[in-house]
Amino acid sequence: MQLPQKHSATGTTIFTVMSALAQQHNAINLSQGFPDFHIDERLSAALAKATTDGYNQYAPMTGLPLLRQAVAANFAQRYGLAIDPDTEITITPGATYAIYTAFTAILQPGDEVIVLEPAYDSYIPNIEMNGAKAVSVPLSAPSFTVDWQRVADAITARTRAIIINTPHNPTGAIWSREDWDQLAALVRDTDILILSDEVYEQLVFDGQRHYSVLEHEELRQRSFALFSFGKVYNNTGWKMGYCIAPPELTTAFRRIHQFLCFTVNTPAQYALAAHLANGTEPIHSVMERKRNHFLSLMADTPFTIHTPTQGSYFQVAGYERISNMPDHQFAEWLTKEYGVATIPVSAFYSTGKDDRLIRFCFAKKEETLNDAVERLRGLRG
Ligand SMILES: Cc1ncc(COP(=O)(O)O)c(C=O)c1O
Repeated sequence: MQLPQKHSATGTTIFTVMSALAQQHNAINLSQGFPDFHIDERLSAALAKATTDGYNQYAPMTGLPLLRQAVAANFAQRYGLAIDPDTEITITPGATYAIYTAFTAILQPGDEVIVLEPAYDSYIPNIEMNGAKAVSVPLSAPSFTVDWQRVADAITARTRAIIINTPHNPTGAIWSREDWDQLAALVRDTDILILSDEVYEQLVFDGQRHYSVLEHEELRQRSFALFSFGKVYNNTGWKMGYCIAPPELTTAFRRIHQFLCFTVNTPAQYALAAHLANGTEPIHSVMERKRNHFLSLMADTPFTIHTPTQGSYFQVAGYERISNMPDHQFAEWLTKEYGVATIPVSAFYSTGKDDRLIRFCFAKKEETLNDAVERLRGLRG
């Protein structure tokens, strides 16, 4: 049977591979980006209440009004932004889906999309599934800042969009206001649209702040901003998220969304609306404590922390004092020999660029981090 090859990615994703290897070798899994601790009991209770209260049928296509209003109120409170819940917010089954939907709404065969690599692994397949071409621009390791000249050089008459991710997976780098200004200057006289993946927006550390594309009035007019409840409330398995975009882009987004999944899990939408309306505490401090704990443990190992992560669930580390193996081989070896699973950073490059770095997920219970780093202490520098 001849079936079409819709994108260039081959094989199984590295996340599945490393998690399977972790299981096989009874390793502690610091590879995939999900918490191993319980969610807020009030959120679980709100989900149970929504289903026993009978909210079990289809919600409106655009998302439950109660939840869209709660998201708008939350953005007004946290960013001082006015967002219209009816014309600018769409609830989605996670951010990955929202990214695919936004690409599908705007791309035609032959279009180009600029992707800053390393990048979350769905972007390039999603671009290619829409018949468009991904144009990769590498970030500058180990700080992973943007080389604006390289972005400028990558723009052509066919460039339809640029996808941004801040705070960044896998490196934890965050964008400053100046980064957004640089981007605005580059796209000012073009029709280039922006997809801004901000799933870790509430996980920014050291008193720094997240700059959303929505705060950049000029860029906001041409941007889809994509968010995930999973990364905020540590319930990644709920697969709930949303897209915020100006009315014209939201209309285009919903034109695809209504025939892709049409509507999103109703009880989960009620639960999240109730939880948001309760005014939950800022969540970055819990994750910042985990990062600090992880970094203090890692100081007793021969790994190099080039830059403490500024946001997200992740810390990248160098192993040049331990080995000069390629990163895939090193991550496999570490899983098998030391019982700790991580992700090789080259997996986030379509080019396979290998900076000899691995990514640890520290969104874990303290005892999980203690046990993992205890195993790494045996490594010699
Ligand atoms: C950068 C980035 N975008 C999107 C997602 C996916 O979010 P969701 O689970 O809501 O689809 C992730 C999850 O790891 C991520 O790291």
